Order: sequence, then C-alpha cells, then structure tokens
Amino acid sequence: MLRIEQLSHSFRNGDEITPVLQHIDFQVAKGSMVALLGSSGSGKSTLLNLMAGLMKPTEGNIYINEHNIVKMNENQLAEFRRAHIGFIFQAYELIPNLTVIENVELPFVFQGVSPRKRREKAQHLLEQVGLPDKGKMFVSQLSGGQQQRVSIARSLITEPSVIFADEPTGNLDTKTEDEVISILKQLNKKMNTTFVIVTHEREVAEHTERVLTLKDGRLIEDAVTTSAQAAGSGIGGVHT
Ligand SMILES: Nc1ncnc2c1ncn2[C@@H]1O[C@H](COP(=O)(O)OP(=O)(O)O)[C@@H](O)[C@H]1O
Ligand SMILES: [Mg+2]
Repeated sequence: MLRIEQLSHSFRNGDEITPVLQHIDFQVAKGSMVALLGSSGSGKSTLLNLMAGLMKPTEGNIYINEHNIVKMNENQLAEFRRAHIGFIFQAYELIPNLTVIENVELPFVFQGVSPRKRREKAQHLLEQVGLPDKGKMFVSQLSGGQQQRVSIARSLITEPSVIFADEPTGNLDTKTEDEVISILKQLNKKMNTTFVIVTHEREVAEHTERVLTLKDGRLIEDAVTTSAQAAGSGIGGVHT
C-alpha cells in the first residue's frame, strides 16, 4: 500500500546543500507494521515527514494506495492526508484546554461528523487504548504514557490507511514504552491499519514485523524479525 521509489532529499541553506536521503526504495504491505531504525541524524524524521506529505522530496515518488502524493498540489494533498494518513508525534501534540475525548474527536470535527457519532467513536477508541474512563479529564491530568495513548486514539478516529509515528515512545520510560508498543501492535492487528514506526532503539524496532535500517540517509538493511512469525509473542532476534 506504500511504495517509495528512488527517494532523495536535500536541505538547502543559502548556497549550502545538505543531502539527507539518498535513493531510498522500499514497499510496505497493507496492514503490516514496520520500523524505521537509525541513529540520530540518519534521516528518519525527514523520511517520515516526506511519506506523510508534510514536505516535498527533492527527487523520487511516494505512492500511497497507488496515489503518488509527490505529484499532488497543496489542496489535493491536504484532502488526501485527512482521508488516508494518521500521525503520532513523540511529544503527543494534544490540545491542553480540551478534554481527552475532545482531543480524540478533533479530526472528526474538521470532517463535519455529527457530535453523537464523534463521541461514540471516540469513546470506543479510548476503550481500545485502555482509557475507558478518562474522557472527561484534561490531558495535563494524565501521565505521559496515557497522553500518548490518547494521541494514538486520535490518530485512528478517521480510520486512515497508514499511520506514521515519529519516536512515539521517545519520551517514555521502558515499562510505559512496552505498554504503548503493545497497544500499537494490538491495534495494528485489529484494525488492519498499516503502521510505520520511527525509532532509534533496536528493542522498540524488533517488536515489529520488519525493520528498515537507515544510515547517513541510505537504507542499509531490510530485515524480517521473529515477531513476524511468532506474532504477539514478544521480542525476537533479527534474521534475514
Ligand atoms: N530543516 C532542515 N534544514 C537543514 N537540515 C536539516 C533540516 N532538518 C533536518 N536536517 C538535517 O538532516 C539530517 C537528518 O535529520 P532527521 O531527519 O531529523 O534525522 P533523524 O530523525 O534520524 O534524527 C540531520 O543532519 C539534520 O541536521
Ligand atoms: Mg527524528
């Protein structure tokens, strides 16, 4: 459902051109969960932002459900993103003066969905992420892990085809990190949504079915993990 073709990107600062991604090619099957692993500065966030249509690449193509988002104009892209793409941020990016359930509903507000349907679906998703009774609270009253679960619920409300998550457990301790990853895995199975998870931690990456490794802007490894065979059985070593 996701296909990256000869993708390259450089940042330009006056006369200085910094190449950040070079000739990236890969495909991701519908409903799968893959990790994009690499150390800080390897180009993970740039790649994720390009795939989510948040910026345009210098070169190459990005197909989501056979639609090349690189060729879309601003309006087409905005509409496509609302319908097909979800995003989860490291720092949650929730709205502090809205309640938990209002945050989850927000994408539906922009789509003009009726208040009743919004509320029903948002409550259902809060149950899915293990926060059935937190809807009326404000986000500041929740722990980091709980806030990330709210942001996961929010990303799913429009039932996007693909969710991009940039270091979703980067601000969490190890135990909370495991909880959040296991929720992502459960939702991936249940909802058949494709997940692309960026991380710099190999332990996090190996919870997924497949690990794509970036180094200095190049894809250097594409490995299937044992989680792919023994789904749900926890962490496994990588074999190719
Ligand atoms: N807006 C920008 N302008 C110039 N250079 C950038 C910009 N954003 C990122 N970079 C550079 O691109 C490289 C990759 O960054 P990034 O994609 O954020 O890596 P990662 O997410 O893997 O840490 C880094 O060297 C970074 O300094
Ligand atoms: Mg990053």
